[in-house]
Amino acid sequence: MAPGHPWWRQAVVYQVYLRSFADGNGDGTGDIRGIRSHLPYLRSLGVDAVWINPWYVSPMNDGGYDVADYRAIDPQFGTMDEAIGLIEDARGLGLHVLLDLVPNHTSSAHPWFEEALASAPGSPARDRYHFRSGRGPNGSRAPTNWAGVFGGSAWTRVDDGEWYLHLFDQTQPDLNWSSPEVAAEFEDILRFWLEKGAAGFRVDVANGLVKDPEYPDIGIDDGNSRGGVSIPYSDLDLLHDIVRDWRKVVDEYEGILVAEAWVDGWDRLANYLRPDEYHQAFDFDFMQAPWDADIMKGIIDAALIGSSGVGAVPTWVLSNHDIVRQVTRYGLPQDVDARAWLLKGDRSLLDPGLGLRRARSAALLMLGLPGSAYLYQGEELGLPEVHDLPFEVLEDPTWVRSRHTRKGRDGCRVPLPWAASGPSFGFGTDGGWLPQPADWGSLSVEAQDGVPGSTLELYREAIDLRSRYLVGTDKFHWVDAGDEMLVFDRGQVRVVVNFGADPVPLPHGEILITSVPAGDGVLTSQGAAWLRSD
Ligand code: GLC
Repeated sequence: MAPGHPWWRQAVVYQVYLRSFADGNGDGTGDIRGIRSHLPYLRSLGVDAVWINPWYVSPMNDGGYDVADYRAIDPQFGTMDEAIGLIEDARGLGLHVLLDLVPNHTSSAHPWFEEALASAPGSPARDRYHFRSGRGPNGSRAPTNWAGVFGGSAWTRVDDGEWYLHLFDQTQPDLNWSSPEVAAEFEDILRFWLEKGAAGFRVDVANGLVKDPEYPDIGIDDGNSRGGVSIPYSDLDLLHDIVRDWRKVVDEYEGILVAEAWVDGWDRLANYLRPDEYHQAFDFDFMQAPWDADIMKGIIDAALIGSSGVGAVPTWVLSNHDIVRQVTRYGLPQDVDARAWLLKGDRSLLDPGLGLRRARSAALLMLGLPGSAYLYQGEELGLPEVHDLPFEVLEDPTWVRSRHTRKGRDGCRVPLPWAASGPSFGFGTDGGWLPQPADWGSLSVEAQDGVPGSTLELYREAIDLRSRYLVGTDKFHWVDAGDEMLVFDRGQVRVVVNFGADPVPLPHGEILITSVPAGDGVLTSQGAAWLRSD
């Protein structure tokens, strides 16, 4: 591809949540064999790359984000030979394979952490993690007031009285990135997978790598304060030095780095996209935005301005394995917090039909924007969140650590339906690790494949049109269309989204695609269209 327009700048990347994609050996868990057998499906969608969630050896306390060996495949997912075979097969089909790098923490089953526990306070083995004395007379109070993302304290005490930091589950101890050993180890891990053909990495918890060495409490002004709240373990400027070192390594292989950085807006996110840092950084404001024209417009403007300031482009995303699926989010009233609703919200508030209409429009909005876009497996089928999973099947540590006050993320991780009928709707030869709703056969790939108007065909067509008309140009400008409408031109293509309750006349031009049946020159409520100007 021409310099200035490398493949990733406008790529569509498909996220494979491995445990739930396809089960090739019938044990209820998705695996590498399952992905390999469905590579032609990914090819037929027209995506440029796949990002595979962690597949390394792990006790699976957090779906594989608790890594015990970064250079080996967990046996439930397959073997190293299969992993290399997958990367090669994918490349043969023109698909890049991105892996998930988990540098913020290891598993407590990682040999380094086991060594740290067996070593004395102050030892080099402990220095690879954040071990501290507690507060209070017997050191019985945690070193800081930091809370874990899944709930509870971010510190756990060990037998000799020291505490270790874990921003997530207690089985995910945070690494100390001021230790040169940690930096050297990850440089080696990057090379290990790049040598095997990986095209790059999505970097987990990219905003969390560096902690304030003073370990202040949250709420104390330590100079890192933004928006009034000091977060001494997030988005600290020093973390960018680490990224620059990684960038030099991936550049040797023409690989890419994608940041999962939860930060305060584009003022901060743009830092991750400076020319010697990440190639891409997810726009989580877009992902979390309510279905509202004004809010979306503000978010799109911020992204286009913020990214261009550092010579980058935005990376759009509507969902991933951590968030309530968009069909359900958009089907709830705007003032309802979808995550809280999962546990005990009023079910009558959900309008799934409305959610799906909006999700289909959102797809055309996202795929019409300049920059790259990430799809989360199943969104191309219009899958909703499975909000009624019984408590006893939940695996997300959020459920336990929040003391059953947050249901967690399992509802967006339910195994994919491939077939219209049969055991686990073709996910495997038997049941999947989470139960699928009884009506998911109608949302399966088999039920939608080749069916005009299906959500699967909408995605296929949009990705195809995008590659024909939009890839290769960053051109973008808004067309004024009044409240409750978003309209913009991308060169010869006009993208129109009707957020309102009433139909609107479609502008002139050849209709390329619509998210709703388009008749009589109107675009119905919650519909989107792409037109080619005459
Ligand atoms: C990221 C992952 C999430 C995981 C967490 C801890 O946010 O996307 O799934 O639980 O990091 O690794």
